[in-house]
Amino acid sequence: MTPSAEKWYQQVRQQTLALTEGLSAEDMVVQSMPDASPAKWHLAHTSWFFEHFILQPYFQNYQCFNHHYQYLFNSYYDTVGSRHARPQRGLLSRPPLSDIMQYRQHVDSHISILLRQQHPAITDLLTIGLHHEMQHQELLLTDILHLLSHNPLAPALLAAQSQPSLNAAAAVSMICFDGGMAKIGAEAGSFSYDCENPRHSVYLAPFKLAHRPVTNAEWQDFISDGGYQNPLLWLSDGWHYCQSANWQAPLYWRNLDQQ
Ligand SMILES: [Fe+2]
Repeated sequence: MTPSAEKWYQQVRQQTLALTEGLSAEDMVVQSMPDASPAKWHLAHTSWFFEHFILQPYFQNYQCFNHHYQYLFNSYYDTVGSRHARPQRGLLSRPPLSDIMQYRQHVDSHISILLRQQHPAITDLLTIGLHHEMQHQELLLTDILHLLSHNPLAPALLAAQSQPSLNAAAAVSMICFDGGMAKIGAEAGSFSYDCENPRHSVYLAPFKLAHRPVTNAEWQDFISDGGYQNPLLWLSDGWHYCQSANWQAPLYWRNLDQQ
């Protein structure tokens, strides 16, 4: 294992913690819906992954931080045993957050030792573990967004000054693409999940793409212009779902002028 692998490990693990810096301990316990997980659970589960798949099999005489964690923080790996039901993850007021933070440090310190021993068997497992943790970083953010959206105080995870100004976007322009045959799927030799393979050819019809993402102000213009009441602006399936779910705006949209 190279020094850069250890640096990569530290960066990914630190990034997970950085995403939770704006949360209170209470924020990290609550589960806002069965499909979401508490932030505390994400912090523990990503550590369990390294403990179970790398430290237990490859760290000589490894002592688990807590044997109950195998049951509490396994997600859906049937081959490694039973697990706590996902819809009840928000009931785990114990172990406390402080224990989970110690758990992360326990796993990190042992992984660090193993990396310096340059054990050849863990290279691929470490890569999978880090991509797994990065997946959970995305889940962490989507779950936090759903949780905080239910709070009438409208708390924000990020400070307002870190968000770009609505007035900063340049006028949108459309870029034309010719289409034709294109390759999609993972390149050989790089990490990929099985759903990203095999690499194959597809035909793309000619298309246009805006040079930047749509702004909130532009989407508000669409709403104000009756975009959610005009079937001519929707594909058939989308319009059907819009009608049946009574969509009036994107998920999480709040019209501050009406509050
Ligand atoms: Fe997972």
